[in-house]
Amino acid sequence: MTMRKPMIAGNWKMFKTRDEALQFIYAVNMEVPKREFIDTVICAQAPVLRDLVKRQGENVRIAAQTMHEETEGAFTGEVSAALLENIGVEYAVIGHSERRQYFNETDDKVNLKLHQAFRYDITPIVCVGETLETREANKTETFVGDQVKIALQGLGKDQVQSLVIAYEPIWAIGTGKTATSEQANETIKMIRDLVKTLYDTTTSEAIRILYGGSVKPENIESLMKEPHIDGALVGGASLSPKSFMTLVDAAYKQ
Ligand code: 13P
Repeated sequence: MTMRKPMIAGNWKMFKTRDEALQFIYAVNMEVPKREFIDTVICAQAPVLRDLVKRQGENVRIAAQTMHEETEGAFTGEVSAALLENIGVEYAVIGHSERRQYFNETDDKVNLKLHQAFRYDITPIVCVGETLETREANKTETFVGDQVKIALQGLGKDQVQSLVIAYEPIWAIGTGKTATSEQANETIKMIRDLVKTLYDTTTSEAIRILYGGSVKPENIESLMKEPHIDGALVGGASLSPKSFMTLVDAAYKQ
């Protein structure tokens, strides 16, 4: 059984000015455990990424919240993988449910973005997750399974082993409703089994799969105890250095 390194990724969404972002990074830089043991990632708005990269402590990593699938072109407002790589950003969140819902990020686009990220040495954190309706209709497995299959289409196993999947049930995002640890683990195990079917055991044991949706200091420990949950993608509770560090420490100690 492969030991997977845990990851805590704070997704700030459209929060924080430059001053607030810098205050945060200075507050956590020295507190974060060594990156040999845990990956600590901050996903920030594009205009502040370079400032964060310049000031990131050696154990903190910076991520974009989205990225365009084309190399360059007339795509006003978008951010290219080439530029992200060029300024030292190492990860990009791809297919977040808010991007899927408000910005037309379809499964096919998610797949193109994954391929593009790998052309530029950006590690994707690809998000999947079902609505409440889908869960209540007992269609979570098919729905999330299809999202994963399409997202990974055409990727080699080395690429799949290096990327990160975040399972974020839409009904648990920003609602205060967390999936129970067992529910989260069950769907994440289903994703891991699917990766095994699509690739092989080595790949399914290497790929890191995070849970996201109302992760807080109060529930992180029970989530991290589950065998298939490798960490968390966190919105609200990543905004204050104190609660973010509580999550990082809990994941590190697990
Ligand atoms: P919350 O942690 O605020 O529910 O957000 C989850 C999320 O969408 C992280 O990407």
